[in-house]
Amino acid sequence: MYSRVIGTGGYLPEKILTNHDLEHIVDTSDEWITERTGIKKRHIAEDDQTTCDLAEQAALRAIEASGKTTDEIDLIVVATTTADKIFPSVACLLQQRLNIHGCAAFDVQAVCTGFIYAMGVADNFIKAGSAKCALVVGAETMSKIIDWSDRNTCVLFGDGAGAVILEASDEPGVLSTHLHADGQFEKLLHVPAGVSHDRQKLLDGEAHLQMRGAEVFKMAVTTLGRIVDETLEANNMKKSDIDWLVPHQANIRIIQATARKLHMNMDHVVVTVDEQGNTSAASVPLALDTAVREGKIQKGQTVLMEAFGGGFTWGSVLMKY
Ligand code: ACO
Repeated sequence: MYSRVIGTGGYLPEKILTNHDLEHIVDTSDEWITERTGIKKRHIAEDDQTTCDLAEQAALRAIEASGKTTDEIDLIVVATTTADKIFPSVACLLQQRLNIHGCAAFDVQAVCTGFIYAMGVADNFIKAGSAKCALVVGAETMSKIIDWSDRNTCVLFGDGAGAVILEASDEPGVLSTHLHADGQFEKLLHVPAGVSHDRQKLLDGEAHLQMRGAEVFKMAVTTLGRIVDETLEANNMKKSDIDWLVPHQANIRIIQATARKLHMNMDHVVVTVDEQGNTSAASVPLALDTAVREGKIQKGQTVLMEAFGGGFTWGSVLMKY
């Protein structure tokens, strides 16, 4: 028994913030941002637009592409770091919007690796026979936890949502998932406030993402190199067996390093970071959806999705599309 992606969807808020717009907000330049990150613009949610609003649009598009109806969905997993409310989960809010009743619905929080984690969870539900048709979403409004006066971080992130429908199938789909974390790196990338820690910051609207960028960069490159090896070894595959790399979209230099590791031409690497920035848990499903809708990823091809992010967390999904 496999789980197989049978539909993808994506949604980006209408509002666009370019590097030139950012030049008016912090001391930065289009040249610096482009050279260091590859990012040219990002989409930003309106003040009253929530993570669930974005998730809903992406989910509807994935459902439509899959040909399924909402009453066939029997599991909802949403990866997010920027939930609308402390509770209920975005997954439950999304379930309400989609008028689905009764199936399990929950959020997974693994920051930029969230969608990979959510796919790992949903794949295991399906393989165990606990679900037949899962809606798996990555959705974020990172703009709401960014300090817009901090040029080290505010130029990097964007908002969006991506979704897939995963269905139980005899045909090969997800071949393996590999999930990892090492909590000792908490301080390199975190929002140092929450409900039970430094709550005042949360109440004052000062719960902002903090990052030691250069250290995160080095860890991301070496760790993603290792996850590529681990995934290929587990599947007895060679680098040349991979048709498409769908990486987390944090920084073009991190993406290029992973492509080099795979001896892969950039023509077979899906890149959306220039247009979308880092949308955290939404970046991999948004990139997948873009490549599918552009007709790049074809049925039967082998796709490697990978991500690295806060926690630290990292992981991969290898699948036949
Ligand atoms: N505009 C202009 N100058 C800036 C900006 C900016 N937006 N931000 C920082 N600088 C300055 C710094 O202050 C520093 O100046 P100084 O030398 O006078 O102190 C200088 O630029 C160089 O800064 P570095 O941190 O050395 O630059 P680096 O080449 O490491 O690039 C970056 C920084 C882009 C953040 C990089 O480290 C990176 O991409 N790290 C990975 C972080 C990431 O992607 N995190 C997302 C979450 S984890 C993940 O998704 C993988």
